[in-house]
Amino acid sequence: MFETLKEQPADKILALVQMYRDDPRDTKVDLGVGVYKDATGLTPVMRAVKAAEQRIWEAQDTKVYTGLTGDPAFADAMVGLVLGDAVSRGTVAAAATPGGTGAVRQAFEMIKMAKPDARVFVSDPTWPNHLSILKYLEMDMVPYRYFDDETRGVDFDGMLADLKGAQAGDVVLLHGCCHNPTGANLNATQWDAVIEVLQETGATPMIDIAYQGFGDGLDADAAATRKIAASVPECLIAASCSKNFGIYRERTGLLMAVAADPAAHKLNQGTLAYLNRQNFSFPPDHGARIVSTILEDDTLRGDWMAELEEVRLGMLGLREQLAGELQRLSGSDRFGFLAEHRGMFSRLGTTPQKVEELREKHGIYMVGDSRMNIAGLNTQSVPILAAAIIDVGI
Ligand code: LMR
Repeated sequence: MFETLKEQPADKILALVQMYRDDPRDTKVDLGVGVYKDATGLTPVMRAVKAAEQRIWEAQDTKVYTGLTGDPAFADAMVGLVLGDAVSRGTVAAAATPGGTGAVRQAFEMIKMAKPDARVFVSDPTWPNHLSILKYLEMDMVPYRYFDDETRGVDFDGMLADLKGAQAGDVVLLHGCCHNPTGANLNATQWDAVIEVLQETGATPMIDIAYQGFGDGLDADAAATRKIAASVPECLIAASCSKNFGIYRERTGLLMAVAADPAAHKLNQGTLAYLNRQNFSFPPDHGARIVSTILEDDTLRGDWMAELEEVRLGMLGLREQLAGELQRLSGSDRFGFLAEHRGMFSRLGTTPQKVEELREKHGIYMVGDSRMNIAGLNTQSVPILAAAIIDVGI
């Protein structure tokens, strides 16, 4: 029967991982998949994660199932981290999921269950897997303008105009911070304007927040999510712990559904449990337990925050270094946007041909749309990248 299957397109981001591995050049630079690397090229286990794992190993005396929506302590800790006290805890239904991708998938499924013909407004561009999952679920998507190819910032007038086309029963998918793949983000005033449009249109926001702590800091990065959640009757939030806790392979995420009233809250919580059961039953627990162990303990939390801040400042330093190097080599300010962008990624804004030339001639691997993983750089590879960018005539 399986001869009826069709070849599926390779994921553009993950395909690069293999290409990079197969490249024998020792000067190659991997700016593909969104993974943080330290100055030595390693993706370390964070100190607090190691310590939490040790505590869990010592204390854990059973591996029996948790609940269908995971360990409540994880949900409580993450709701606190993401939403602070923006909304009452009693209005937030939450379910642990396998990674942030799992949360995104369950959120789309919940939308589809509630309203099969809902349109999902997506930024152009967005994380390719948003589009892939929506297509797989046969859901309607409507792109809204986001990236300005000229300024490499946000085309905010275009974005707002397009979002005004949404209506009640539609969903607007937003990146809470550190927009993936562009690195271009809204400022606080612009977020307020988006909130106004959400209120006027009645569209439901869905926020994907996968890089909290990688942009301007843990609270600053969650500020827009918190304000949105406090300003509209209901919203969905898909949070990932992969990057900010560095626990990529543990698959740790949380889907939150903020409700307008207790009846809706009960329905949401039950729906999240049902959806988990249909797709994988119980969510993975190890990563979730690491996160709650860290967030519940002042010492571990402090150490985690300090290390995350080192990572964030390191990325900012690399951004400054790259923008400075490119300014020196090009004699122009046209790469200044690299220091303005925030998060793991920046879209260079060049053609797929130039991206290919960077790969073939210089062994520099970035996604075809010219998304670079800034966290894949180090102080030694920045000058190599800058020289290559100028060499291929970007
Ligand atoms: C990325 O965008 O590179 C990350 O979110 C990893 C992934 O799963 O694509």
